[in-house]
Amino acid sequence: MLKTAAMIYPIEEYKTLLMERLTEKRYFHSLGVMKEAVRLAKKYGADVEKARVVGLLHDITKDMPAGQQLKYIRENGIIMDKISAPSPKLWHAITGAHLIRVQLGITDEDMLNAVRYHTTARAGMSLLEKTLYLADYTSEDRDYNGVEDMRRDVEVSMEKAMHTALQFSICDLCERDLTIHPDTIDAWNELVAKQ
Ligand SMILES: [Fe+2]
Ligand SMILES: [Fe+2]
Repeated sequence: MLKTAAMIYPIEEYKTLLMERLTEKRYFHSLGVMKEAVRLAKKYGADVEKARVVGLLHDITKDMPAGQQLKYIRENGIIMDKISAPSPKLWHAITGAHLIRVQLGITDEDMLNAVRYHTTARAGMSLLEKTLYLADYTSEDRDYNGVEDMRRDVEVSMEKAMHTALQFSICDLCERDLTIHPDTIDAWNELVAKQ
């Protein structure tokens, strides 16, 4: 069987693009997540190059104003579920995954899913999806309450870190009286059922 050549991703071009689209703070966050995603990929065996790209690009649309994102969603015929539709914070994962496919030509399903589910998580996440989800919690620029626990647990195992991250996320949303996306609940239920 012929082996197809691995796609070469133009990291420096992506960085230039991000500098135009993101605030300085978000740009440095993206670099931090890239670095952490690469580290975790090496530690847990995910594809390092894919982790580097999704780490760098995961928040590519996060600084796009909500109105513009909604316009993008409508113009591209993206159908949102009833929890995502009124939650602008969830839109950048949807528009980001779409944009990197359509405008940057990234077609790898695992990479697209990693970006698509980096905010909510979901049941049945791949190694690459978990790598990005966790790197977004433990990148060096993060300083939220509880980040030290996350950094400790991500060294223990991915399952332990996923448990801590999902518990943190669900409890935080609950305390702030915010909706919890069913994908997050599914991820949590799957993890707890396995214990
Ligand atoms: Fe994000
Ligand atoms: Fe992020």
